[in-house]
Amino acid sequence: MSTVCVFDHPLIQHKLSILRDENTSVKEFRELVSEIAQLMCYEATRDLPLEEVDVQTPVAMAKCRRIAGKKLAVVPILRAGLGMVDGMVAMMPNVKVGHVGLYREPVKYYFKMPPDITERDVIIVDPMLATGGSAIAAAGFLKEEGVKNIKLMCMIAAPEGVEAMQAAHPDVDIFAAALDDHLNDHGYIVPGLGDAGDRIFGTK
Ligand code: PRP
Ligand code: URA
Repeated sequence: MSTVCVFDHPLIQHKLSILRDENTSVKEFRELVSEIAQLMCYEATRDLPLEEVDVQTPVAMAKCRRIAGKKLAVVPILRAGLGMVDGMVAMMPNVKVGHVGLYREPVKYYFKMPPDITERDVIIVDPMLATGGSAIAAAGFLKEEGVKNIKLMCMIAAPEGVEAMQAAHPDVDIFAAALDDHLNDHGYIVPGLGDAGDRIFGTK
């Protein structure tokens, strides 16, 4: 069974509290989504394999460690996942980015991956894991392409979404900044933050 890692770091929790606030502006909301993604990326990549390298400093040779093994790709689920890409790229400037567009049925309307996606480990990013329908579908499409190692990074998860995701993809570890209470009758996370896409793009 996959692991669920809920980040209790004070910086993440502080930023999340402002993100949830209905009075937070679009500008601030965007900035916070990006900043939280950046902080979460730091933890979600903790298990990346390292290899030893020798580096000549101005003083002496130093035994150092650099990231080895498979390369990464970040795959945002459109639209709201786009808000997390900047933060991920700030931490990993050369990371490749694929895109999955899904309506909440979920219906796929866009799918464009780096050509070498099967050689990469993938971190799916989406601020909200509600019923889990979108993340389950996105992970399924990536597996159909041949991707072997997938993680899911979301800001707020509902217990229903976590359970559904773990049942559908027991190999996909989930990273979240908060595990909320439940879903309401409209499939919104309670207390959540409302519609993440609308708040990032100012469409409501
Ligand atoms: C939101 C969110 C997730 C999805 C989560 O996207 O960004 O992708 O809902 O819900 P689920 O777990 O029940 O699938 P939405 O479908 O509203 O599209 P948008 O990002 O274009 O606003
Ligand atoms: N999608 C959102 O943007 N918010 C929710 O609460 C649930 C799904």
